[in-house]
Parts: sequence; structure tokens; C-alpha cells
Amino acid sequence: MSVRASYLVVGADSLVGGGLLRALERRGHTAFGTTRRRDSVTNRRVFLDFESEDPFIAPPDVGYAFVVAAATNYDRCETDPLAYKINVELTPRTIASLLNQGLFVTFISTNSVFGGERPWPQEDDPHDPKISYAIQKHRSELAVRKAASALDAEGRLNIVRLTKILDPSTSPLASWFQAWRRGEPVQPFSDLIFAPMSIQFVGEALAILGEKRVPGDLHLSGADNVSYVDLALALAEKLGFDPGLIVPTTATAKGIHIAFKPRFSGLGMTRTTQLTGIHPQKLADVVSDLTVEA
Ligand SMILES: NC(=O)c1ccc[n+]([C@@H]2O[C@H](COP(=O)([O-])OP(=O)(O)OC[C@H]3O[C@@H](n4cnc5c(N)ncnc54)[C@H](OP(=O)(O)O)[C@@H]3O)[C@@H](O)[C@H]2O)c1
Repeated sequence: MSVRASYLVVGADSLVGGGLLRALERRGHTAFGTTRRRDSVTNRRVFLDFESEDPFIAPPDVGYAFVVAAATNYDRCETDPLAYKINVELTPRTIASLLNQGLFVTFISTNSVFGGERPWPQEDDPHDPKISYAIQKHRSELAVRKAASALDAEGRLNIVRLTKILDPSTSPLASWFQAWRRGEPVQPFSDLIFAPMSIQFVGEALAILGEKRVPGDLHLSGADNVSYVDLALALAEKLGFDPGLIVPTTATAKGIHIAFKPRFSGLGMTRTTQLTGIHPQKLADVVSDLTVEA
């Protein structure tokens, strides 16, 4: 085995981190994860808290780190100064340290940095973040790039922006599946647009990016901008439930405040596809993955 062939997933307790670890292991790699939960630490699950002043040293055989962990809650990003500090100062500080240790680093970002008013923004398009979470991720990207430039390590950094990721437990899917099994209707929102991907697709695609070591900005996206009604109809059809169990409504009609309500959610993947062969995930494939065990 070559030197430093192992992978590190910073944020193994997250949705994306868990899916990525499973994919790396499925593809035959040795992969370590990090946790900030002391009681979860094992040989393969090492402690890392961005807030800790103790320097983090990657396990010796690790040559590639995915930095997935973040303060992700939209409301927390609006109100808690610590969320800003974690995203904009402490995460880039850890990435600078990982680059300084000679690792190739992937920093995970989000489609929300583009603001949602333009269809299919490409990897190098300008940002227009609107909500605090998106502004913080935009500033993290700038700080991470600056750190890489100062270390002359831009060739060992990529920033991978993702659209919405789903697994069967993601809200509101689990409650839809339960309702349908009881023969009860669900009320998905027609005014909430997204370009979903399955966690299986995202884990596998990130693992491939880790094998290919392509620097620069990359995107992973669903191939379709759809509403939650479109997704519910596709899921019900796949599972053989009556489409009459889907009663469309809107977040507006329900009086529910949605912090990020983009007109367009999908990301352009032209550069990513050219360099890696990875294509956007079609809705039918998202639905297949979501219904494997439903
Ligand atoms: N989920 C999506 O649909 C989506 C879409 C686009 C982009 N993204 C990006 O993908 C990444 C992962 O998202 P996710 O939804 O999978 O995340 P998540 O499930 O919300 O988990 C976030 C993780 O970050 C960890 N964390 C928070 N603060 C930390 C700190 N100070 N030190 C160390 N770890 C810390 C948390 O640890 P604890 O578990 O111990 O609290 C948690 O495991 C994020 O960068 C997010 O911006 C996600």
C-alpha cells in the first residue's frame, strides 16, 4: 500500500460524513472519521472539535481529508455568534492545519452561496448569498482559499458544493412513508423547490473525487429542480401508493416561514463532469435509492 493512502472524514456523525465513510469503505479504502463526542472515540473515530485549542494531528497514514462538519442549522446561523465563528474562522483554521500537514483537502460547501435566483450556476460563477448560513459558507470558502494560497497549496484543495441531500429519515420523508402505510394523506409543499440527491449518490461521488484529487471548485447536484409535491408523487408511484394520498399545499398557505426559498436550486456541473465523469443525479435514481428499504 502506498504511503498516506487513507482518508479522513471530518464530521463523521453528520448525514454527509456517514454516507461518505460508508462509500469509502465500500470502495476498499481505509477511512478514519472524526467526532466531537468523547464517548464515540475509537481507533478509527478520532476526536476533533473545531472549538478546541489543542492542535489536531491527522493519523499518520492519512493523505486526504474531507471537511464535512459545520454549523448547519439555519436558525442557529442567524442568531448564535459561535456558529459564525465555527464556520468562518475555526473551520478554515483547521483546514489550514491539514494543508500544512501535507494533506489534500476537500471543503464541503453549499448551493445556497448562489442565492437561488439564477438557474444552474456553474462552478466558477459569482456568489450571491442571502441568508446567514449561506453568507457564512461563502466567507468560509474565501478564508479556505486564502489559507491554501498562503501555503502555496491550491493544488491540494477543492471546494465541493452540494444541493439538498436526502436519506429515508430526512424530514418529512419518514412521516410520509408512515402516513402512506396507514392509508393517510400527506401535504407536501408546491412552493418549495430543490434539486435533491440521495446520500448514496453523494457518498459515492465524494469518494470518487477523493480518488481523482481534482483541485478547484466542483459541484454535485440533482439533475432536476422539483417541488416537494413532485418528489412525493414520484415516491408514491415507485412504492405503489395511491397518488390521491398526496394533497398539495404551500408553505405560504400553512403560514410556515422557510428561511431559504430559492427559485432555482440545482447546480451546473459542467467542470465537474468534464474532469471526473460524474453526472447530476436524475430524480428517478434519487427515488430508487430512497425506496430501497422503505
Ligand atoms: N444536508 C444537506 O442537504 C446539505 C446540502 C448542502 C451542503 N451541505 C453541507 O454538507 C456538510 C454536512 O451537512 P450535514 O447536513 O451532513 O450536516 P449535519 O448532519 O447537520 O452535521 C453537522 C456535523 O458537524 C458537526 N459539528 C458542528 N460543530 C462542530 C464543531 N465545532 N467541531 C466539530 N464538529 C462540529 C456536528 O457534530 P455533532 O453531531 O456532535 O453535533 C455534526 O456531526 C455541511 O458542510 C453542509 O453545509 C449539506
